[in-house]
This record gives sequence, C-alpha cells and structure tokens, in this order.
Amino acid sequence: MKIKTAKSAGFCFGVKNAVDQAIKVTSKKNTHPVFCLGEIVHNSHVVNLLKRSGLSIITNLDQIKDNNGTIILSAHGVPPRILNKAKQKNLEIVNTTCPMVKKVQNLAVSLNEKNYKVVLIGDKSHPEVKGVVEWGNNNVTVVSNISDAETLPFNQPIGIISQTTFSTELFKQIINFIKQKAQAEVNIHNTICNATEQRQKETEELSKTTDTMFIIGGKNSANTKRLYEIGLKYCKASFWVTNEKEVTQEMLKEAKIIGITAGASTPSVIIKAVTNKIMELSNE
Ligand code: F3S
Repeated sequence: MKIKTAKSAGFCFGVKNAVDQAIKVTSKKNTHPVFCLGEIVHNSHVVNLLKRSGLSIITNLDQIKDNNGTIILSAHGVPPRILNKAKQKNLEIVNTTCPMVKKVQNLAVSLNEKNYKVVLIGDKSHPEVKGVVEWGNNNVTVVSNISDAETLPFNQPIGIISQTTFSTELFKQIINFIKQKAQAEVNIHNTICNATEQRQKETEELSKTTDTMFIIGGKNSANTKRLYEIGLKYCKASFWVTNEKEVTQEMLKEAKIIGITAGASTPSVIIKAVTNKIMELSNE
C-alpha cells in the first residue's frame, strides 16, 4: 500500500495567522475575558484547544455584558456593522480577517460605489459571504449556481467577485453563462484565493491517480466540502473524515494507492493521526 499526501493539505497562511493570534491572546495573563465571535476556524479540535485556554465563543456581541474584554474576529471577516459595534463597546479588537477576504470586501465597496450590479459568486450561508454582502451596502446579489445567475439584470453593468474558497470549476461555469447573457459590461474579479485554487487542483490530480481518497476536515468547513466533491468526482472511494476515529477497515478494503488531503482549517496533528490510523489498519 502506498500513501500520497497533498503538499497543500492543512492550514493556509490566513488560518495559521488567525490561530497564532488567538493562541497569543489566550496565552497571555489576561485581566479581562477573551471572546471569539463564532468559531475562529471550522475545526472542533482547534476550537476546543482554545476554549481550554480560556477563550469563550459567542454568537452576538450583546453577549458581552459589561463592555469589557478582547474580541477576536475570525479569518472569514465580519460586516462593518460588527466592527463598529465592537468599537462602540470599547472592546480590544483582534481582527484576524484574512487579507484575501479583505480584498473581496474592498472590491464589494468599490464596485458598489461605481454603480455596478455587484454579484458575489459563493455560498449564501457562509460567514465570509454574509460579511461581504454588508460591505457592499447590501446591494450585492449572491449567486451559487447557474439557476441563480438566470435571474440577474443582464442589461446593467455587472461587477463580479467570488468567495475566496469557492469552486474554481463552478466559478468558471457561472462566469461563462453570465458573459453569454450580458448586454452590458461585465467586470470580473476572480477572488478565489491561491491557497484554495492550489488545494483544489492538487486534490483533482491526487484523486485521478489513487483508488482511495481521505479528505480531512470539519463537517462545517466549506473548503473541505469542495475537496470532498472533487475527490468523489474522480475517485469513488473518497471519504470525508474529521479525525482518525472515523477511519475504518471497511474504507480500506480496496486500497492500494491512498491519497490524503485536508481543508484549510485542519491542523497537521490531525492529518498525522489519520495517516497513522490508515497505516495501522492496513497492517492488520
Ligand atoms: Fe485566506 Fe484563502 Fe485561507 S482566503 S483564510 S488564505 S483559504
């Protein structure tokens, strides 16, 4: 049995920066509480580790009662409304918004100011997307597939941006459709980040040359979901696992060449644990 691990598996620079900053803040002797608005990354291992160091996860800034504490904002970014509220509450802000997400937020602002119909290609329920919509003053239409794109006003200039972790393949399909239908200017900004693009490309190459694929990452991680979809397309025996406990002998029954990849929020310790479990079960 052979195991091939994707070079791009695991933390991207944006997630690494967010986690490093959260570790730095929680490991200080804090005289006030430290909060994180939502999960710092979509990985329960990382989140639980930080919770044990004293980090409290909140879903709303109103949960901070006495306007005292540090608030960590995740790599996905937040709407301007939240930033303003954190400032009004006099909280110490640790903003870990990834620079690639900041670029999408800035484009939403400028395209809206230039009167484009702003189209954001992404998942409607993703926190990054929800934030970018508000940066564009809520004049942003989120398109997740071709049928969403069918309803766009094609007689107006359209400015297009994308969620940083969206599927490159689906992005291209939607763009081609819009270009065919457009009767006015289409201003396209492919803002899928390099880390995502490379990870998706490597997953495709791996799944074409292996008989079994393991995609490691949280079940709420959008970028891991994409990798799983790519894996399944080229390799029927593709499995999405969150940790080593989910790897079973049954999954390895046909395995001769195994591919391993992982989402941007999966720590290397989990990738190692899954790899070890695969090797252990293969030797039984
Ligand atoms: Fe940033 Fe891309 Fe990672 S947007 S957080 S580098 S997946």
